[in-house]
Amino acid sequence: MTILVTGGAGYIGSHTCIELIKDKHNVIIIDNFYNSSPDVIDKIEKITGTRPKLYPISLLDKKNVKKVFEENKIDAVIHFAGLKAVGESVEKPLMYYRENIYGTIVLLEEMKEHEVKKIVFSSSATVYGIENNPPYTEDMKTDAINPYGYTKVMIERIITDVCNSDSQWKAALLRYFNPIGAHESGLIGDNPNGIPNNLMPYIQKVAVGEQKMLKVFGNDYPTPDGTGYRDYLHVVDLAIGHIKALESIDKFDGAVPINLGTGKATSVLELIHAFEKASGVKIPYEIVERRTGDLAVCYADTKKAETLLEWKTKFSIEDMCRDSWNFINNNK
Ligand code: WQD
Repeated sequence: MTILVTGGAGYIGSHTCIELIKDKHNVIIIDNFYNSSPDVIDKIEKITGTRPKLYPISLLDKKNVKKVFEENKIDAVIHFAGLKAVGESVEKPLMYYRENIYGTIVLLEEMKEHEVKKIVFSSSATVYGIENNPPYTEDMKTDAINPYGYTKVMIERIITDVCNSDSQWKAALLRYFNPIGAHESGLIGDNPNGIPNNLMPYIQKVAVGEQKMLKVFGNDYPTPDGTGYRDYLHVVDLAIGHIKALESIDKFDGAVPINLGTGKATSVLELIHAFEKASGVKIPYEIVERRTGDLAVCYADTKKAETLLEWKTKFSIEDMCRDSWNFINNNK
């Protein structure tokens, strides 16, 4: 099939493009490189031997998004493109609503106009908000505690309403938990510009000496070791989950939310120790106060993905740490 991947040069997008090409799909990428770089396209070609067709545009550029659909016979869309820094979304809500919501509306309008009615959407566990208790199940009420989270809740709603308006539309709303790790080649991985918000990219920066010390945001949570517990999954497992969603989407009735996680929770301290073991590098850290908005525990109920997509994660925390270290050590 010909698959349009928005945000295909990003961390999860690029790993998904590699799996799509391995499965003989024809991949077209839209990416404005706001949070990624053009050399990722070269790396996808180096890893797979195939260079995806690239449109270096923003989804807000309606005229050129239309051209993508006019110039290519697209069978389905995987939609990653969007801003995703929680803290930044609190400071700049309008930017987040414009980029994430309006960008998605432009995409959906062009899909509708060109009769492309299958979409896999990059959603997030953040839609479970603070009222629900883990393990999270897909029937739980969604909510958010920051503009970034609200864009995910709203986009799920928009896609669901489009599917309800036309029964030919099918959508997989994939709710990611905490993706970490990197492709075994060490050529691509999670290396955000600037100071990372997320735990593993920050550990990576400490490991290569770009940051001196990791701050552990609180060890007074009601958890076994007092630090936050999360459902970390390998980015390649996550990418394969997208392939499985594409393969299953024709049997969906409208828009279907699906958790992509391991179903297990790992603490901050456990992840630090696993990384130290995998890399042989000591990660100095200090315990500081909690980060506003953080949950104590967040992990997935994975039954729906196992039954509907015949998908479950294969990589361990040790694999994720080994591959994260291999990537950052090759790209320092
Ligand atoms: C994990 C744990 C922190 C950094 C976020 C987004 C979510 C999704 C995934 C996009 C927590 C602790 C972190 C640090 C720390 N993104 N931590 N020191 O917050 O679970 O989820 O990323 O969809 O929407 O909210 O991930 O990696 O930021 O934090 O102690 O320097 O690590 O307190 O317990 P989080 P995270």
